[in-house]
Amino acid sequence: MRILFIGDIVGRPGRAGLAAAMPELRERYSPDLVVANGENTAGGLGITEKTARQLFELGVGVITTGNHVYRHRDAYDFLDRADRVIRPANYRAGNPGRGHTVVPVGDRRLGVVNLSGSVQLQAARSPFVEADAVLHSLAGEADAVLVDFHAEVTSEKVAMGWHLDGRVAACLGTHTHVPTADARVLPGGTAFITDVGMTGSRAGVIGVRREQALEAFRTQMPVKFETADEDVWINGVAVTIRDDGLAESIEQVLMAAPA
Ligand SMILES: [Fe+2]
Ligand SMILES: [Fe+2]
Repeated sequence: MRILFIGDIVGRPGRAGLAAAMPELRERYSPDLVVANGENTAGGLGITEKTARQLFELGVGVITTGNHVYRHRDAYDFLDRADRVIRPANYRAGNPGRGHTVVPVGDRRLGVVNLSGSVQLQAARSPFVEADAVLHSLAGEADAVLVDFHAEVTSEKVAMGWHLDGRVAACLGTHTHVPTADARVLPGGTAFITDVGMTGSRAGVIGVRREQALEAFRTQMPVKFETADEDVWINGVAVTIRDDGLAESIEQVLMAAPA
């Protein structure tokens, strides 16, 4: 099976860019399932039922999130109801939403797991211990597993790749919005990348208008941030998963959205 994974979609420009790029992405990568990180879909921060539905209408099958998932209170009920939108599994158990889901892909079952890093991000439990617990609960329920590891620090993300190598089809990093050049299949058969990058404007600073981000850095004063909208790029990876549930290949996706 072939999975196209799309990095953090930032605001309306990211959603519009993905919509424009989807026909070409489908032709180039022929995905059986599209998974996308949607934590920045609503106004650049957070997700709402409306933005999630827009992604589903574009053909996204599962939406993962991260540290901005609870930005919009009116989405909490939706997160509890939705079975194809997930938030980090290692958040408090009572918080809205779920940490993993299992979806049919052809005649196979793919488990999708979201985890948050614990270095420079808040998480209730260690992502490493949580990964073990979730994989244990998925045994017999999924033929292959894809993990979105939403984390800040490269060392924690590389460590997670080794922790999961040979046990999941893919361990894909998100959150920094900057793609890394280390996509590969690890020796045990897990497709890995430290960060897939974002789907949004390359003209800003990780999604924010560059003059506003620069003003904040220069003045060290609060600045209202708006979503940058020029020069939108699609960042992601395409992963091919073998019948044994491990990865055959991982290919980086770096594509300008059609104007
Ligand atoms: Fe993000
Ligand atoms: Fe994030």
